Amino acid sequence: MAITFEVIHKDIAGRVGKLKAGDKAIRTPALLPVVNPHLQIIPPSEMKKMGVEGIITNAYIFSKSEEFRGPALEKGLHEVLDFDGLIMTDSGSFQMSVYGSVDITNEQTLSFQRDIGSDIWVPLDIPTHPDTERDEVIAQMEITMARMKEAKELFGDDAPISGPVQGAVFEDLREYAGKTVSDMGFAYCPVGAVVPLMESYRYRELVDVILAAKKGLNPGACVHLFGAGHPSMFALAAALGCDVFDSAAYALYAKEGRYITTYGTLKLDEMSELPCACPVCRSHTVEELKKSPDKQKLLAYHNLAVTMAEISRIRAAIQDGTLWELVDERCRAHPKLLDGYRRLLERVEEIEHLDRASKRRFFYRGSESCRRTEVTNYHAMIPRVKLSDVSLIAAGGPVPSRFEEVIEFKPPFGPLPYELAETFPAGPAEVPTWDEEMMKYGIKGLKGLLATNPDTKVTISTTAKWADLFRAEFPAAEVIT
Ligand code: GUN
Ligand code: ZN
Repeated sequence: MAITFEVIHKDIAGRVGKLKAGDKAIRTPALLPVVNPHLQIIPPSEMKKMGVEGIITNAYIFSKSEEFRGPALEKGLHEVLDFDGLIMTDSGSFQMSVYGSVDITNEQTLSFQRDIGSDIWVPLDIPTHPDTERDEVIAQMEITMARMKEAKELFGDDAPISGPVQGAVFEDLREYAGKTVSDMGFAYCPVGAVVPLMESYRYRELVDVILAAKKGLNPGACVHLFGAGHPSMFALAAALGCDVFDSAAYALYAKEGRYITTYGTLKLDEMSELPCACPVCRSHTVEELKKSPDKQKLLAYHNLAVTMAEISRIRAAIQDGTLWELVDERCRAHPKLLDGYRRLLERVEEIEHLDRASKRRFFYRGSESCRRTEVTNYHAMIPRVKLSDVSLIAAGGPVPSRFEEVIEFKPPFGPLPYELAETFPAGPAEVPTWDEEMMKYGIKGLKGLLATNPDTKVTISTTAKWADLFRAEFPAAEVIT
C-alpha cells in the first residue's frame, strides 16, 4: 500500500525515478493531467494512449457530485474514469483556498479518498497564500501539520497519504515544514500554494521556496510541485528536484483558444502556422483548426501532447546529463523565467553536491554556463592537482618545447591537466571563442591550482588579446605571446 520512490538517474538536483503507489507505478518526472469528471475534454482512456501514466482528480468534486459520488464509491475511481494508471486525488484544499472554507473534515476527505480507491491521497492542508503575514502562515502551517499527524494516526503508516509542504515565501518555514513532513514519514511530498507565484511569474521566489522545502525534506522523498503549470517551467523545476507536476493548463488554455508551446502560449487566432509534430497539428492547417467545431478538444489534445513531450524530453535530458542545456534553453523564453534560472545559478553551491560526476556533454551557452555545477565542482577539485616545478599554461599562445609540463587552459574551467583531458567536464566541454565572462571563471580555476602549488615556476602562453589580463591577474608568472 505504501508509497515508494526510487531514484534511477540524476542530473543537477533533478532525478529520473520510479514512483510506486499500491499496485501502480509511474516514471518520473511525471505530469498528472488534471481531470474534472464533469468536463472531460479528453477522456482519461485516450490520455493513456498519449503516454499519460497518471492523472489527478479532485475528491471534493466527486464527494459533492450527485452524478459521480455513488458510482465512485461503488465501482471505484479507476472504473468510473476508465483509467487503469495511477490516480491521485486532491482534497478540498484548493476549493478552500478559492472559496474560503469547505464543509468537510480532514478525516472525511481522507476516508472518502480511500473509499473511492485513490492511489495517492491528500489531507486537508491549508494552501497559505504567498503574501500572508508570518504569524498567520505559522498558524496555518500548524493546522496542516496537525492534520497530517491525524492522518497517520487514523490510517496508519502504510496508507498512501501525501505530506504537503506549506510555509508561503518564508524559507525557514518551508524548510521546517519539509523536515517535519519527512520526520513524520511521508515519502510523497507536494510543495503547496505556489500557484499564485507561478501565475504572477514570481519564478525567483519560486526557486527560493523549492530550494528551502528541499533542504528540509528527506532527499529520497518524491516531490510534487502542486499546480505546476506551464511546460516552459518544468525543466527548471525538475532541475531543482521536483519529480511530479499536475496541470490543468492543457484544458484551461484550450478553452481560451490558446496554443501551448515550450516557449510560451500563443493565441490560435493570431497564428499563421502550426509549428508542432503532434497528430492534430500535422493533420490540420491553422485555418482548419481555427474553424473546426472541435477546436477546443483539438487544442486540448495538442496542448497535452506538447506537455507530455516536454516531460519525456526532461527525463531523457536527466538520463543523458544534458539538463542544464535544456534549462538554459527553456528559461530564455521569458525574462521572469531567466530570473528564476539566474536565482538557481546564484544558489548553485547548495545543490552542487547532488550533481553527478559524468555526463554526455557540456555545451557552453553563454555567461550563465559559467555558474553551472560542473564548473563550481571543477573549481573545488582542481587545487588537489600537484604541479611540477616548472609549468607552462597553454592559453592559446605558442608552446615552446623546453617545458616538462604543459597544461592547457580551458575557460570557464581553467587549467586542464593532461590526465583530465578525456574526463568530463573540462575535457569534452565545447566552448566557443573565449569571452570575458568565461575568462573570469577560467582565471578563478587557475588561481585555485596555483595557490596550492606556490613553488611552481609558471609561464603563461597566450594571445595578444588576453596577455594583459593574465599579467594583471598573475603578477608572479611570466606571460609570453
Ligand atoms: N493545488 C494547488 N496548490 C495546492 C495546495 O497547496 N494544496 C492542495 N491540497 N492542492 C493544491
Ligand atoms: Zn500540435
